This record gives sequence, C-alpha cells and structure tokens, in this order.
Amino acid sequence: MCRRGWVARLGAGGLTAGCRPWTPTRCEPLVIFVCATAGQGDPPDNMKNFWRFIFRKNLPPTSLCQMDFAVLGLGDSSYAKFNFVAKKLHRRLLQLGGSALLPACLGDDQHELGPDAAIDPWLHDLWEKVLGLYPVPPDLGVIPPGVPLPSKFTLRFLPEAPKMCSEEQHVAGADPPGPPSEQQPFLAPMVTNQRVTSPSHFQDVRLIEFDITGSGLSFAAGDVVLIRPQNQASHVQQFCRVLGLDPDQFFTLLPREPGVPCPTQLPQPCSVRHLVSHYLDVASVPRRSFFELLACLSPHELEREKLLQFSAPQGQEELYSYCNRPRRTVLEVLCDFPHTAGAVPADYLLDLIPPIRPRAFSIASSLLAHPSRLQILVAVVHYRTRLKEPRRGLCSSWLASLDPGRGPVQVPLWVRPGSLTFPETPDTPVIMVGPGTGVAPFRAAVQERVARGQTGNFLFFGCRWRDQDFYWESEWLELERKGRLTLFTAFSREQERKVYVQHRLRELGPLVWDLLDRRGAYFYLAGNAKGMPADVSEALTSVFREEGGLSGPDAANYLARLQRTMRFQSETWA
Ligand SMILES: Cc1cc2nc3c(=O)[nH]c(=O)nc-3n(C[C@H](O)[C@H](O)[C@H](O)COP(=O)(O)OP(=O)(O)OC[C@H]3O[C@@H](n4cnc5c(N)ncnc54)[C@H](O)[C@@H]3O)c2cc1C
Ligand SMILES: NC(=O)c1ccc[n+]([C@@H]2O[C@H](COP(=O)([O-])OP(=O)(O)OC[C@H]3O[C@@H](n4cnc5c(N)ncnc54)[C@H](OP(=O)(O)O)[C@@H]3O)[C@@H](O)[C@H]2O)c1
Ligand SMILES: Cc1cc2nc3c(=O)[nH]c(=O)nc-3n(C[C@H](O)[C@H](O)[C@H](O)COP(=O)(O)O)c2cc1C
Repeated sequence: MCRRGWVARLGAGGLTAGCRPWTPTRCEPLVIFVCATAGQGDPPDNMKNFWRFIFRKNLPPTSLCQMDFAVLGLGDSSYAKFNFVAKKLHRRLLQLGGSALLPACLGDDQHELGPDAAIDPWLHDLWEKVLGLYPVPPDLGVIPPGVPLPSKFTLRFLPEAPKMCSEEQHVAGADPPGPPSEQQPFLAPMVTNQRVTSPSHFQDVRLIEFDITGSGLSFAAGDVVLIRPQNQASHVQQFCRVLGLDPDQFFTLLPREPGVPCPTQLPQPCSVRHLVSHYLDVASVPRRSFFELLACLSPHELEREKLLQFSAPQGQEELYSYCNRPRRTVLEVLCDFPHTAGAVPADYLLDLIPPIRPRAFSIASSLLAHPSRLQILVAVVHYRTRLKEPRRGLCSSWLASLDPGRGPVQVPLWVRPGSLTFPETPDTPVIMVGPGTGVAPFRAAVQERVARGQTGNFLFFGCRWRDQDFYWESEWLELERKGRLTLFTAFSREQERKVYVQHRLRELGPLVWDLLDRRGAYFYLAGNAKGMPADVSEALTSVFREEGGLSGPDAANYLARLQRTMRFQSETWA
C-alpha cells in the first residue's frame, strides 16, 4: 500500500483505493485517510494540494456532514510533532461536519512492533464499524485468509532480448520537459568521492561531488537532493538464483486492471536484472504484509506454517526478534524459505517487494561558490546485529562503492526544497547548529551568504575528535580568519565528560540571547533526529530563562513564536 496521503473510498460503486489527490466532487459516504507526517510536522509532498484544499477558510462547516471517516496516521514519536498531520486532519474533518468512526490511529515507527502495534487493534475495530454500516452483500463472500488477491501486474516474458536496448534508452530519457524529477531524474556524473574522516575513524563519511552541467537543476541553501540507489550486483544474482529467475530474460509489464499505471522507473521491455537491481528493495527489512503474501504463495507446508505464524497478530514478538531486531532483509528471508521463494510467481514480485525508495541528502554546496556542481556529505551506514553479515545502508554504501577514478559513474538524482530557508536581508544574523553530517546544509548556507556579502554567520559544529571527523575544518578556519564566520566547536570525545553543541549554546547564552532577541537572528538546526533536537531546544529555552529572565512557560512560548515566524527551523533525520 502506498502510505502517503492514501485515500480509500467506499461508495456506491464499491471500494476503490489509490494514491491520488482527493477532490470531493461529490460527498463520499465513507473515507479512510492514511497519512504520514513528514518534515517537522508537515504533510508529505503528495498530500500538499489536498492539505491546502481542506484548510481553505471558505469551506462551510457542514461540507462533510454526510461523510463518515477514519484517519490512520503514520509517524515516529522521536519527532517533536508526533503524527501531527493525522491529528490535525482528524480535527479538521470534525470541524467540517464529518463523523469519525474511531479516534485517529497513531502508528509509531519507534514502537518495538512498529506501526502495526497501533494499527492492528484499530483495523479490527474499523472493520467492525464498516461492516456494520456496509454489510457484505449476501451474494459476495469475504475472501478467506490464505487466498492471495490477484497480482497488480502480469509479467509477459519475451522469447528473446529486444534488439534496441530499452533500458539504456529509458535511463538516458528523451528530452526531459522540465527540471529533473522523480519520473525523469538527471544522470549526474560523479566527479569525486572522497573519504573525509580519518582512515582510523570508525565512521566512513564521504564528500561526493556531481557535475550537473546542462541538467536544468537549480537549488538554494537548504535544498535537498534525492538519489535513487541500486542493489549490489551480488544481491541481484543471489535473488535471481533463489527465485529461479534468469536475470537476462526480458518481459513487458501489464497492469491487470485498466487505468493502473506501470512504475515510471521501469523501461518497457525490461530485463529481470534491471527490475531487481533498480526497482525491487530486496535489501529492506520486510514488513508483515510481505509474510502474509508469502504465506499465501507458499506450496511448502512447514514453511507456510511459519510464515502464517509471522503474519498473525500473536506472532509479532517472534517476527520482531527474527526480522526487525537483527534487521534481516527481504533477500535473507527468501533464502531462509527456499521452497517458497522458488515458487513465487513472477507476477507477484511487485506486490511482494516494495520499490527502492529514493534517499534525501542535504545539499552541501552553493552554486555561487561551485557553479555546475552539487556536493553532499554522506555518512556510510554500517553496523552489526546478531547476524553474521554486517548491515549496510543501501544508498550510502552504494554511493561509497562508486569510484569515478576507475571510469565514468552516473547517479540518478533530482532536487527538492528542504525545510530550511535563509533570510535574504544582508545583515540578519543566522545561528546554525549542525553536529556531524548535520553541518551539510550549513556549508551551502555559509557559501551562499558569504558570496552575497551577508554577515552574521554563527556556526555551532560538533563532532567526536578534532583530528578524526572535523568536516571542512580548513574552510571554516579560513572564513573565520577573514571575519566572515564565527565558529563554535564541541568535540564530544576529547575529554572525559561529553561536550555537545548544546553545551556551547548554554555557555554562549548571552550572545545567543542578544542575537535572537535584539538582532532578530534566525536559528537553524540539522542532523541526527535522535536526542539532539530535543536537547538543543531544551538548551535554547534555558538560555531564554537565564538570559532573558523568562519564566518556564514564557520561554516555551518564545520558542514556539520563533518556530511560527520561521525564525527557528530544523531539518533532522533518523
Ligand atoms: C531531509 C533529509 C536530509 C538528509 N541529509 C543527509 C545528509 O546530508 N547526509 C547523510 O549522511 N544523510 C542524510 N540523510 C539521511 C539519508 O537520507 C539516508 O537515510 C541515509 O544515508 C541512510 O540511507 P541508506 O540507504 O544508506 O541506509 P538504509 O538502507 O536506509 O538503512 C538505514 C536504516 O538502518 C537502520 N540503522 C542505521 N543504523 C543503525 C544502527 N546502528 N542500529 C540499528 N539500525 C540502524 C535504521 O533503521 C535506518 O533507518 C538525510 C535525510 C533526510 C530525510
Ligand atoms: N541513532 C544513533 O544513535 C546513531 C549514533 C551514531 C551514529 N548514527 C548514525 O551515524 C551516522 C553519522 O552520524 P553523524 O556523524 O552525522 O552524527 P552523529 O552520530 O549524530 O554525531 C555527531 C556528533 O554529535 C554528538 N551527539 C550525540 N548525541 C548528541 C546529542 N543528543 N546532542 C548533541 N550532540 C550529540 C556525537 O557525540 P558522541 O557520539 O560522542 O555521543 C558527535 O560528536 C548517521 O547515519 C547517524 O544516523 C546514529
Ligand atoms: C524527514 C522525516 C521527517 C519526519 N517527520 C515526522 C514528524 O514530524 N512527525 C512524525 O510523527 N513522524 C515523522 N516522520 C516519520 C514518518 O512519518 C514515518 O516514518 C512514516 O511511517 C513515513 O511513511 P512513508 O514511509 O510512507 O513516508 C518523519 C520521517 C522522516 C524521514
């Protein structure tokens, strides 16, 4: 299921579901909204039109008085605005006269069992209500568990490879109509891929530069580049072996129902190798729905029994320790269930395995300092669990593996606005707090502001050791020397007690208060979502109390006002 801004309609014509903008041309009797929260409590991109529409001031309060609804939220309680979109949408629908079948469901990525922990009981109650209102017609039965729905697509295999290579044509694309996008990314030549942490440091971090000449791409400080990674060649081979697929065979993809679009990322015809390397996310940790469908498709009694156990609500603890805790991948699970894997009909591949998601990276360079170039700072995800093989992040490891020194390398990418925007006025100060790779967007901002002659650039940077992971040290020091930047550092592991950016903020309380309260400074925060944003906000409110003499509630209100007026902005990632 596409989970962003998803709308299911149960109308006279039956149930239709899709990932499309919703415009109530007529009042639907029952609507189920499924919505994630993105950014800092923002609606996801594909929900933004709907969001603007539903919050129009001129909508009468009786607009939805004929409509029953339910809201399923997908969020993460490590973010300050947990499931904000679902909660706000629920309130707005009530305001417009809708009747809520249930309280909003607040799925939480942080829960041990994932969002299912909240969704399972909620769905149970939802179906009870829905079937009470709309009983299944007597001539139709409920599809019993264990019977798969028809696949969304069929794969029609071709007897031989096409003469023209559709994949190369597809990737190169015809003249793109506008700037590069998810549908038509730009194949950016990678210029450099340089490790910027010392070789002895545990964390591999890369500064990667792309040449974007002729791409039509344009960006400003705070924008984000999206990159669609590929699976490792060895994983592609292993997947094909376990499923009994020939990677060199070509197929055309046909939707089973009219009007269902084929994924734009796939050429037609497409090889199995291309499908697996570019589209199927075999390196992701499978969700419960994967086990449900796999169980339906399994011809092997023992394997089916185990898969059914993992699919059942009572099996979730066991599924968690088998799959989520050790971060076992789709491919590894398929290897553990070889009889089932070997029997998966190719038609079901796109139902079973989700598409590879693009990954976002804060752009770390400014076009004013590096024309026709785009740089990113990438922390390579690599960690161990109880499984023998170390876990590797798909995109960061793929990027790290590319070596432009050995031959041309191209990476499909496009750009979108991020959460951070910087003031245009020449002398409005900016306080930027970016520990670790969180400093990336501030490198772009500092370059842009220095090139424009904007003053008042204050950067708080934190890392572990000065000589191991101090990104762009010489650039910052040079700018300091020229009087264009004021830098404060926190080297967390150079002394017994941890020193973080928030400690520096507290120490520099009088300056921070003066900049914010008297000089109208903007405050920015970027980096790891875990712990740091809450700690930095706490440090800020303590500065407001200590230096501004504000009471606890007044300090919280002061911070809230900075947020409302965009003078406190953050971009954090888990
Ligand atoms: C707006 C935005 C800007 C970003 N900017 C940057 C940036 O400038 N630089 C940057 O490096 N990243 C940035 N990121 C993060 C980036 O998008 C990717 O999430 C990151 O590179 C990891 O992707 P991956 O494909 O390598 O890892 P994946 O294959 O997606 O694996 C990552 C997942 O592995 C799990 N994981 C990771 N470490 C551990 C661990 N130690 N223990 C257990 N589980 C773990 C977590 O579930 C994590 O979500 C940004 C993200 C966003 C949303
Ligand atoms: N989820 C995690 O717990 C975790 C931990 C490490 C790395 N990572 C991942 O590793 C990659 C690299 O991360 P990164 O180097 O960009 O940043 P980072 O891991 O966040 O570390 C950057 C600096 O921030 C410090 N830090 C840790 N907790 C903090 C807090 N609550 N407040 C302020 N500073 C804090 C770190 O110190 P210390 O490390 O000395 O405490 C370090 O000096 C990312 O992919 C990140 O997600 C994740
Ligand atoms: C960049 C980013 C920002 C997020 N911001 C929030 C947030 O403010 N509140 C929240 O509850 N969840 C937040 N989340 C968590 C997502 O809502 C959650 O992971 C959801 O399951 C994502 O659904 P999707 O995979 O369909 O995008 C954020 C996730 C990311 C990656």
